[in-house]
Amino acid sequence: MAKKSSGRGQRDLTVKVKTARGRKLSSTRWLQRQLNDPYVKRAQAEGYRGRAAFKILELDDKYRFLTPGARVVDLGCAPGGWLQVAVPRINALGEKKGKAIGRIIGIDLQEVDPVPGAEIHQLDFMDEGADDQVKAWLGGEADVVLSDMAAASSGHKQTDHLRIISLCEAAAYLAFDVLAEGGTFVAKVLAGGTEGELQKLLKQKFTKVANVKPPASRADSSEKFVVAMGFRG
Ligand SMILES: C[S@@+](CC[C@H](N)C(=O)[O-])C[C@H]1O[C@@H](n2cnc3c(N)ncnc32)[C@H](O)[C@@H]1O
Repeated sequence: MAKKSSGRGQRDLTVKVKTARGRKLSSTRWLQRQLNDPYVKRAQAEGYRGRAAFKILELDDKYRFLTPGARVVDLGCAPGGWLQVAVPRINALGEKKGKAIGRIIGIDLQEVDPVPGAEIHQLDFMDEGADDQVKAWLGGEADVVLSDMAAASSGHKQTDHLRIISLCEAAAYLAFDVLAEGGTFVAKVLAGGTEGELQKLLKQKFTKVANVKPPASRADSSEKFVVAMGFRG
């Protein structure tokens, strides 16, 4: 089904996937992209649950918000890649002796296999009262609110765009309610997505707002991340 092809001169290691009866062309393309994606291979080699882990890793390497002792909320955490990156960085397991111990709460619509050091809750964050539920679990302030929430693609660009914006807005309003002064909000958006009201609002509430496409984010996707730092309180 999948084979390694070799070209003339330098060996071509691209894995080619033949279309199979019963498999749609889009699935074949997806499979071929997965098999050839260096981040997918790296995630498997390094034990991460998905290539998404590298997005938060790269964002944190640049902006340094996952510090020992940080209190973090991770919205849309399944299957748990961001949790796996955050747990050691915030020292949630207390492995960095002499450093403050952090805490991370993960929320998702889907069930998530346990990640040692993370508290995980299954919840639709768009349900009425969901933000109050998260605040109750948190029981105080947070230093970082992360959102990688994304609804399954509808295949209609504008619909997907509006859905992701409403998820991002809901995450931002939780951030405004729970962040401690100086806190950070990181959320996935689609290109152009935060250029409206939300972007304006974030600029009022935070001292620095950056729109970033980390290298791990696929070049052919319109996804990018907003990193808002220095919550004014
Ligand atoms: C791209 S995945 C997140 C990947 C994750 N950051 C990781 O590293 O494993 C997006 C997630 O958002 C979740 N999601 C979408 N809408 C949601 C909602 N209303 N409430 C909670 N989670 C939601 C989906 O179930 C999905 O697991």
